[in-house]
Amino acid sequence: SGAAALAPDLAGKRVLISAGGTREPLDPVRYLGNRSSGLQGWALARVAAARGADVVLVAANVDAPTPFGVRVVRVGTAEELRTAMRDEAAGAGDRAADVVVMSAAVADFRPETVATTKLKKGSAAEPSAIPLVRNPDVLVELVTHRPPGQLVVGFAAETGDDDGDVLAHGRAKLARKGCDLLVVNDVSDGRVFGKPDNAAVVLGSDGSTTELPAGSKDAVAAGIWAAVVPRTG
Ligand code: CTP
Ligand code: CA
Repeated sequence: SGAAALAPDLAGKRVLISAGGTREPLDPVRYLGNRSSGLQGWALARVAAARGADVVLVAANVDAPTPFGVRVVRVGTAEELRTAMRDEAAGAGDRAADVVVMSAAVADFRPETVATTKLKKGSAAEPSAIPLVRNPDVLVELVTHRPPGQLVVGFAAETGDDDGDVLAHGRAKLARKGCDLLVVNDVSDGRVFGKPDNAAVVLGSDGSTTELPAGSKDAVAAGIWAAVVPRTG
C-alpha cells in the first residue's frame, strides 16, 4: 500500500521488532495476559520493510497476517520473547541488528508455578491466590548487552498521576531503561488499546522531544522511523 512512494531510507538496515503481549500460563488452559493488540508493532514492521529494511518481528500472541517481506518469530511467554530477542538482536549467527524496537507488552510478573493439570473447582488444589514472580526486563538486558552502534528503542504506555504527568514518567523511564529512544503513549481514558489510531511522543536520550500527531498506526510508525533514521550510522 503506497510502498513505491516510500523512500528506501532503511535499505540495508537490520531491524528487529517485538510486538504483542506475552501470556504467562497458570495451567494448561489459563494464562495471565494483557490488552496489547500488537498492531503498532505490526505497523512498524510493515513500514520498515516498505522502506527497505531487513525486518524480523518477534510476535507474542498477535492475531494478524504476516506483513509482506517480514520474518516472523512467534513466541508466547516473556521468557520465550527474551530468548528470541536476545538471539535475533545478536543476529542469530549472522550480522547483529542495527535497530531493536521493544514494542511488546511484556508481563512484569508470571505465576510462580504452572499446574500441569487443569485447576478444578472443589479439588484439594483449589487456589485462593496466585503467587507471582518477576519476569526479566528484556529491554534492560538488550541495552546492557548490545553490540556497538546498535540503536535500542523502548515503548511506554503511561497515565499521569500524583507523581507526575505522562512525559515526566516517560523521561524517568527512558533514564531507567538506558535506551536511546522511548516512544510514549498516553493511555489515559481508555485511549489506544485495540484502536486503529494512535498518537505518541518520542523522547531521546539526547534530551529531544518529538511529538507525533494523532493518526493511523502506519502514520505513527512512519514518525518513529523518521526519528530513528538520523540516529543510525
Ligand atoms: N519491558 C521489557 N521487559 C519487561 C517489562 C517491560 O522489555 N519485563 C519493556 C517494554 O517492552 C517496553 C519498556 O520495557 O519497551 C517499558 O515497559 P513498561 O511496562 O512501561 O516498563 P516497566 O519497567 O515494566 O514499568 P511499569 O512498572 O510502569 O510497568
Ligand atoms: Ca511493565
